[in-house]
Amino acid sequence: MLEGNSIGKNFVITCFGESHGRCVGVVVDGCPAGLPLSEQDIQKELDKRIPLKPEIVSARREKDVVEILSGIFNGFTTGAPICTLVWNKEAIPGEYDLIKDVPRPGHADYPVRIKYGSFSDYRGGGRFSGRITVAFVMAGAVAKKLLGLFGVEVLAYATEIGKVKLRTTPTLEEIRKNTYKTAVRCPDLESAKEMEEVILKAKKEGDSVGGIVECIASNVPVGVGEPLFDSLDADVAKMLFDVPAVKGVEFGAGFKAARLKGSENNDQYVIRDGKIVTLTNNAGGILGGLSSGMPILVRAALKPTPSIPKEQKTVDLSKMEETLIRVKGRHDPCIVPKAVPVIESVVAIVLADHMLRAGFMPKVLGGQK
Ligand SMILES: Cc1cc2nc3c(=O)[nH]c(=O)nc-3n(C[C@H](O)[C@H](O)[C@H](O)COP(=O)(O)O)c2cc1C
Repeated sequence: MLEGNSIGKNFVITCFGESHGRCVGVVVDGCPAGLPLSEQDIQKELDKRIPLKPEIVSARREKDVVEILSGIFNGFTTGAPICTLVWNKEAIPGEYDLIKDVPRPGHADYPVRIKYGSFSDYRGGGRFSGRITVAFVMAGAVAKKLLGLFGVEVLAYATEIGKVKLRTTPTLEEIRKNTYKTAVRCPDLESAKEMEEVILKAKKEGDSVGGIVECIASNVPVGVGEPLFDSLDADVAKMLFDVPAVKGVEFGAGFKAARLKGSENNDQYVIRDGKIVTLTNNAGGILGGLSSGMPILVRAALKPTPSIPKEQKTVDLSKMEETLIRVKGRHDPCIVPKAVPVIESVVAIVLADHMLRAGFMPKVLGGQK
């Protein structure tokens, strides 16, 4: 578990690759044997990163084609590590020589340069690029397929971009049907249009905007999670913060809970159709670090894209002189649309890990043949 390249205890993922290196990939270790899994299952998730409108996301049409190198035999997982990767066909390393000594404000360039010196792969942010999240999506595809066998569904969508908020509370059906029909990955078509406009306006001004992604995990059984330091909310929050540009995470009522009275915040228990449920879900489906049986509801706040064409102050580290920077190249004027499948994947990965740990999933699916 050195150097922060791996996460998980029973469903362990190790990510490799750099933004402008040869490839980006992931090794998933701990996936039970007997899960039907094909390249198509992973490709389907990767394709969610392809911009519907390149002007809304980045001009780089990341047409990533997955290759599975190991862990699958006759269309099923074997229980061995699953290694998948995509080749970086569109990498243009030379494009980043200009920023080698001139850190972009808001990006990881400066602390990376001080920590790793000349050994850091600065091209496109190297290991600190949003492109690394391709690996999260590939591992997330495996996790989602696994969770699906146990009836768990994880769905994410944009609820806010710039200052434009999603106007309605979408149903699960609307989220499934509409999210990927819109360029901004928002299930309400009207709000989506306004979100697009706010991105285009920022882009025209050489600027960027941030936003909020909400994620719902349905049908998670009661009791997934471990006490204290391995609580489900802590692990979900940790991995969400591992997504570059995520600056805030909240569950259920989140920060609003601080302004409620106990009587307002408590989710009261009732019996519906013979099942214990709660009248509200201010807890976001997690109590005491364990799933409560209600949908897990988590939100991640993403900052505006740091690389912007607008002129900003920085320092030329080679001369130790103040200078100005306008970041060129293919950057997303808003990270949210591409982050939606990433957030979905991250939540699925943590849930798969915890469901295995809590014994809700066997090591060999369907028993040994
Ligand atoms: C899917 C995704 C795409 C991103 N695209 C860009 C981008 O085009 N340009 C950029 O400057 N930052 C982009 N970022 C954000 C940076 O990677 C991030 O801000 C940087 O690594 C610093 O990390 P921090 O914001 O978590 O502190 C992206 C992040 C994600 C998750």
